[in-house]
Amino acid sequence: MVKKWWHNTIGYQIYPKSFQDTNGDGIGDLKGVTAHLDDLADLGINVIWLCPINKSPMKDHGYDISDYEEIDPMFGCKDDLVELIQEADKHGIKILMDLVVNHTSVEHPWFQKALAEPNGKYGKYYIIKEGKDGREPNNWRSIFGGSAWEQIENTNLYYLHLFTKWQPDLNWENPILREKIYEMVNGWLDLGIKGFRIDAISHLKKDFTYQDLPSDGIDGYVDGFPYFSNVNGIGDFLAELRERTFARYDAMTIGEVDEGLPPDILLDFIGENGYFSTIFDFCHAKFLINSAQWKGSLTEMIDALKKCLFAKQNTINGKGMLCNYLENHDLPRIVERFIPEEEIDFYSKSMTGSINFFMPGIVFLYQGQAIGMMNYKKESITAFQDPTTFTQYAEYLKNGMTEAEALAQINLETREHARTPMQWTSEPYAGFSKSKPWFAVNPNYKQINYESQKNDPDSLYSFYKKMVALRKSETYQDLFIYGDIVPMYETESGIIGYERRLNNKSVLIVINAKPNETVLLLSRKIKGVLLSNYKKIMLQDDVLRLQRFQILVLDSDKN
Ligand code: NOJ
Repeated sequence: MVKKWWHNTIGYQIYPKSFQDTNGDGIGDLKGVTAHLDDLADLGINVIWLCPINKSPMKDHGYDISDYEEIDPMFGCKDDLVELIQEADKHGIKILMDLVVNHTSVEHPWFQKALAEPNGKYGKYYIIKEGKDGREPNNWRSIFGGSAWEQIENTNLYYLHLFTKWQPDLNWENPILREKIYEMVNGWLDLGIKGFRIDAISHLKKDFTYQDLPSDGIDGYVDGFPYFSNVNGIGDFLAELRERTFARYDAMTIGEVDEGLPPDILLDFIGENGYFSTIFDFCHAKFLINSAQWKGSLTEMIDALKKCLFAKQNTINGKGMLCNYLENHDLPRIVERFIPEEEIDFYSKSMTGSINFFMPGIVFLYQGQAIGMMNYKKESITAFQDPTTFTQYAEYLKNGMTEAEALAQINLETREHARTPMQWTSEPYAGFSKSKPWFAVNPNYKQINYESQKNDPDSLYSFYKKMVALRKSETYQDLFIYGDIVPMYETESGIIGYERRLNNKSVLIVINAKPNETVLLLSRKIKGVLLSNYKKIMLQDDVLRLQRFQILVLDSDKN
C-alpha cells in the first residue's frame, strides 16, 4: 500500500453543538473546540472531524445546509474556524469538515428559487417530478419515515427527499450543480481544511426510472434502498468529485456508506485509487443487546459481530483502509449497545472500546466515548429534540405500541443519546456551559466527567490514552497500520482474537467479551504484555486465564 499522511489517523469526532459553549448561549461553538485542543492532544488524537457547522435552520442539526459558504452564527464565524485550524496545527491536529451534498435545506436559496420556478434553472438543481394519479411520483419511503416526496404547493409537482422533508435531494445528474459543489469544496480546502467526512454518499445517484414497487409496510410505501443506494453509475460522480477537488489537495476523505458496500465495489471506493480515503460503514451498528433479537444472548451477539468484523477485513484484505469506529452522533453510546445494564463497569467499558481498535484501518473516537458517557433516558417524549425521534415515535404508536412502550423503544435506540452535552467537570451543566444547555446534560455528570478521569491512571480515559499511545508507538505503529490480520480463536464463543503481523513482529490481541472467566491455550510464546485492562495477568506456560471482560495485547513470537 502506498503510504499516505492520513494512514496514522486517530480521529476524534466532534458534535459542535454539544462540545463546549464559550459565549454563554448554551450552545457549543468553534471557540469551544479551540479551547480544548490541549485536552485532545493529551488523548493523542491527530485528526478532528467537525459535524456540520455551515449555516442551517437546524431541522436536522446542521445536516440541512442553507448556505455552503458560511458558518452558522451559533458556532461563530470563519475567523474562528481559521483560528481553530491554525491552533490545531500547532497541536499536530488536522481539521476535517462534514460535507453534506446529497441534499440542502429547504431554506437554501437554490431551493427557494426552484420552488418559485420549478421548470427553471434551479428546478434542475433538485429532483422534481410530476405526481401520478393525484399522489406521489412513486411509493419510495424516506429513510426517516413517510413518503420520500413532498408536494410543491398549488402544483402537481413533488420534490424528492430521502431524509426529512426539509432536506430536498440535489440532482447530481446536472453538471452545473456539480460545478457549484466543486467550487464550494475547493473553497474550504483553500481555507486550510484537510478533508471531509462526506454525508450519505451512497445516495448521490438515483435509479431515475422512479418506479412504484410492491409496498412492504402498512403505510403503502417501500424501502427503496436498491433504487437510491450505490446505483450503477454512481462511480462517475464520485470519481469526478475526487478529481476536481480532493485529489488536488491530497485531502483525507471518509465516505458515509450506511449499509456498507457490496464486495465487488468496495475497492472502487477505498482501494489504492478509490474515490475516498476510507469509509464509515454500519457493520457493527445493527447489534443492540437489548433488542428482541439479542436480549440475554451476549456471547451469540458478540459471535455475530465478530463474524461481521472479520468478514469486512477479509474482503478488503489489506488493499485499502477501513475505519474502526464504534460511536457517532447517530447511535446510542456503545457500552449500552453491547453490554447488558447490570454488567456495565470499567472492565466492560474498556473491553468494548477495544473491540475493533487494533484491527487494520484507521481509528475514530466520538466525543465522550473515552470517558464512558452514557445514554440519558428520558421520562417523556417531549424531552427529545430530533424530528426523526418524533416520526419514529408516531410510527410505533401507529403500529399498536402503547405510549410507554414507544417511549421505552425510543430510549433504547435514539441517536439523541449521543448528543447530550460533553461532561467536562462536576460543576453545574458539567462545565459545558455557564447557562442552560440547548439539550439537557446527563445527570450522571458528577460521577462521569473528564476532569475526574484525566489524572487518574486507573480511569477509562487513561485506558483509552494507553490504547492510542500503543497504536501510535514507534515500535508498533506500522504493524497496526499495515500489518496483516490473522483471526484466532474463531470458534471460541464470546472471544475476539487475532494476530497482527508485520515483518518479524507479531502482536496477539485477545478479548474476552463475556462476564465470566475463560481459559485459552496459547500457541505462541509471549514476549511481553503491551496492554491490559486488568493489573493481574493470569498466564502460566501456555495457559491464559482471561478474566471477565478482559482485553490483552501481547507481544508474541511469530511462527
Ligand atoms: C447521516 C448523518 O450522520 C445524519 O445525522 C443525518 O441526519 C443524515 N445523514 C442526513 O443528512
